[in-house]
Amino acid sequence: MATSLISRQLALPLQRTLWLRAPGCRYVSKTAAKTHVEFDYDGPSMKTSVPGPRSQNVGAVNFFCNYDDSRGNYLVDVDGNRMLDLYTQISSIPIGHSVSPQSTFVNRPALGILPPENFPDKVTESLLSVAPSGMSRVQTMACGSCSNENAFKSIFIWYRNKERGMSGPSAEDLSSCMMNQAPGCPDLSILSFMGAFHGRTMGCLATTHSKAIHKLDVPSLDWPIAPFPRLQYPLEQFSRENEQEEARCLEEVEDLIVKWRQKGKPVAGIVIEPIQSEGGDNHATADFFRKLRSIARKHGCAFLVDEVQTGGGGTGKFWAHEHWGMDDPADIVSFSKKLLTGGYFHKEELLADKPYRIFNTWMGDPSKNLFLAEVLNVIRRENLLEEVSRSGKALMNGLYELQAQFPDLLSRARGQGTFCAIDVRDAETRERIMQQTRDKGVILGGCGEKSIRFRPALIFKEYHVHLFLNIFNDVLAQHK
Ligand SMILES: Cc1ncc(COP(=O)(O)O)c(C=O)c1O
Repeated sequence: MATSLISRQLALPLQRTLWLRAPGCRYVSKTAAKTHVEFDYDGPSMKTSVPGPRSQNVGAVNFFCNYDDSRGNYLVDVDGNRMLDLYTQISSIPIGHSVSPQSTFVNRPALGILPPENFPDKVTESLLSVAPSGMSRVQTMACGSCSNENAFKSIFIWYRNKERGMSGPSAEDLSSCMMNQAPGCPDLSILSFMGAFHGRTMGCLATTHSKAIHKLDVPSLDWPIAPFPRLQYPLEQFSRENEQEEARCLEEVEDLIVKWRQKGKPVAGIVIEPIQSEGGDNHATADFFRKLRSIARKHGCAFLVDEVQTGGGGTGKFWAHEHWGMDDPADIVSFSKKLLTGGYFHKEELLADKPYRIFNTWMGDPSKNLFLAEVLNVIRRENLLEEVSRSGKALMNGLYELQAQFPDLLSRARGQGTFCAIDVRDAETRERIMQQTRDKGVILGGCGEKSIRFRPALIFKEYHVHLFLNIFNDVLAQHK
C-alpha cells in the first residue's frame, strides 16, 4: 500500500521532471550523434583534463561533481567539464541526471568515486562536528551492519599492514586470498561479548550473540566470545559485587586473547557496545571500559565501540562512551540510527592504505549529511542533551518507584539518560504488559529475555515521562 502510494505520487512528476519518455516518443537520429531528448545537452564539452584543478583527487575519488548542472545523460564535474555518462554512478541511475527536488531522492551519487562538490564541507558541518575524541576521520556507510562490517575490515587491514611493516602484500598473499586461504586471507579474529548485537550480516553475525534466531543455520567464524558483566542494579548499591564481576570478565578477555593467539587466530580487534541493547540493556561501569581499553592497547588489538544504538544523545551525552571520561576512548566508533546515516569514525592510522579496499557503490547518502547538520543544530539550539538528562532522571525515579510498588512484577531498573530499561517477571508477562500499554497508547520495545527498553526521542520531556508512568502504573496494577 505504502509503496504503491509513493510510486503513484512520484511517477507523474518524475516523468515530467526527469524527462522520461515512452520508447515510442524518443528517437535517435541515425545520421547525427545528437539525441532528441528534451533538455539533454548537445554533447560533451570539455574545459580541462579530468580530474581538473578544482577536483581533489583523494582515495578512489575520480573527480568531484556538479550535480546541479548535470542533466539527462550528461554528468558535469566541478571544473565545468560535461561528459556523456555511460557509467551512471556505477550503474545506479535509472532515468538520468536531473536537478528536480524528486531527483535528490531518486539519484544517489557513488560517493567513493564521484562525490558532489560540497561533500567535504557537509561532512565537516555534520559528522565531523561531533567526532569522538581523538578521531579525525569518518567513513559514511548505509546502515549499522554495513558500518561494523567495514570497521572490521579496516581493523584487519590495519593489523596486517602493521605485521608486514608496510612492505606491501607478497605474491603469495595476493594469490592465496583469491582461494580464501592464508596468508592472503589470514586467520585473524575479533573478540566480542556474550549478549552483544552488532548486526546480521555475515561478519557482524559472528560477533552477535543476543538471540539464537539471528544466527541459526548461518555458517560462522571461530572468534572468541567473552562474558559481558552481569551486574546488579542500582550500580551504586552493588559496587563491590559488580567490581568483582567485572574483574572476572576482564580476566576472561585477557585469557581469550592469549588463547586465540596460541591457536593461530590472533585477536586484531575488540568490539563492544557501551550498553548492550538488543541483548537486554546490560550496563558495565566506566571503570570496566577503561580497563578493557587498556587491555586492547596492551595486546595490540584495535578497540571498536559500536554506538549504533547508543550514539546520538539518548544517554544524555552525544556518545555513550563520553560517560567513561577518557581522552582516548576508542580506535573506531561506529554509528547509524539517530545519526541518519551509517558510518564509523576512526583514527588516522586505521585509514585503509589503498583505494577500493573499503568501498561500495553508494557509501552512504549525502542528503542525510545535510539533514544531519540540521538535526545537530536543533540538538544544540534546544539543549536537548540537557533535556534528555532531566527526563532521564524523572524516568529512572519513576521506574524505581514502580519497581518498589510492584516487586513481583518488576526488577533491575537501569538506565543512562532516557536510555533506560526494566525487567519483567517473565517473557510472557512482558509481552502482555507491552501489549496492554500499547492499547492504552504507549509504544515500548522489548530486549533480552524479559526486559522492556525505553528509547524515546531527544524531545521527550518530563511531562511525557509522567504521562507514560501513569499509564504504565495502570497497566501494572491489573497484573498485581
Ligand atoms: C548496537 C547495534 N549495532 C549494530 C546494529 C545493526 O544496525 P542495522 O540494523 O542498521 O544494520 C544495531 C541495530 O539495532 C545495533 O543496535
